[in-house]
Amino acid sequence: MSLRFEALARSHDRERFSCGVDELDHYLRRQARLDAERNVAAAFVVVDEAAPPQIMGYYTLSAYTVVPDEIPEALQKKLPRYPRLPATLLGRLARDRRFPGTGQLLLIDVLKRCHDLRTQIATLAMVAEAKDERARSFYLKFGFLPLGTDPRRVFLPLGTITQLLARKA
Ligand SMILES: CC(C)(COP(=O)(O)OP(=O)(O)OC[C@H]1O[C@@H](n2cnc3c(N)ncnc32)[C@H](O)[C@@H]1OP(=O)(O)O)[C@@H](O)C(=O)NCCC(=O)NCCS
Repeated sequence: MSLRFEALARSHDRERFSCGVDELDHYLRRQARLDAERNVAAAFVVVDEAAPPQIMGYYTLSAYTVVPDEIPEALQKKLPRYPRLPATLLGRLARDRRFPGTGQLLLIDVLKRCHDLRTQIATLAMVAEAKDERARSFYLKFGFLPLGTDPRRVFLPLGTITQLLARKA
């Protein structure tokens, strides 16, 4: 199977996508393209080159900020005391139930995209909003750390992203 990661487009079959979480299916069907058009969240999908309309998984990215007090002290010490620091928000990530194993591939593409763009739009970390405990443990497995006091929010510093990608290369 040859996979392609690309921006969500009209040609993709959003109606058949089913990840098992209604809210995430509904978002892809009804909201994702609108949010992308309005520059609220960029949506990316992964497809098989042999069946390009079929969406195997998707994720969304937006610009974001964190307050220094939300991140661990050891990291804070290395950063300027600005009231807000730049980050990238991984708002949603889901894969279709027919394609187990795609979650990790989506996350690697997210991290690559974040890393590749860092010289154009500086970002200190990838922040993810996990919608439940299962999603949170998925992110923690890849080294994400708790962010602030909201248990749903986790983050991965850019330095860790660089190390992870070097290991995968
Ligand atoms: C969470 C989700 C993306 C995981 O996708 P997946 O295709 O099952 O993940 P993968 O098989 O690529 O898993 C990669 C690794 O994470 C682990 N993993 C998967 N789901 C996990 C979970 N809920 N908790 C802990 N680890 C998890 C896998 O065991 C695997 O580890 P391994 O390489 O050591 O075997 C998928 O279940 C999904 O789309 N769920 C519905 C939407 C959702 O909850 N999204 C989360 C963000 S809001």
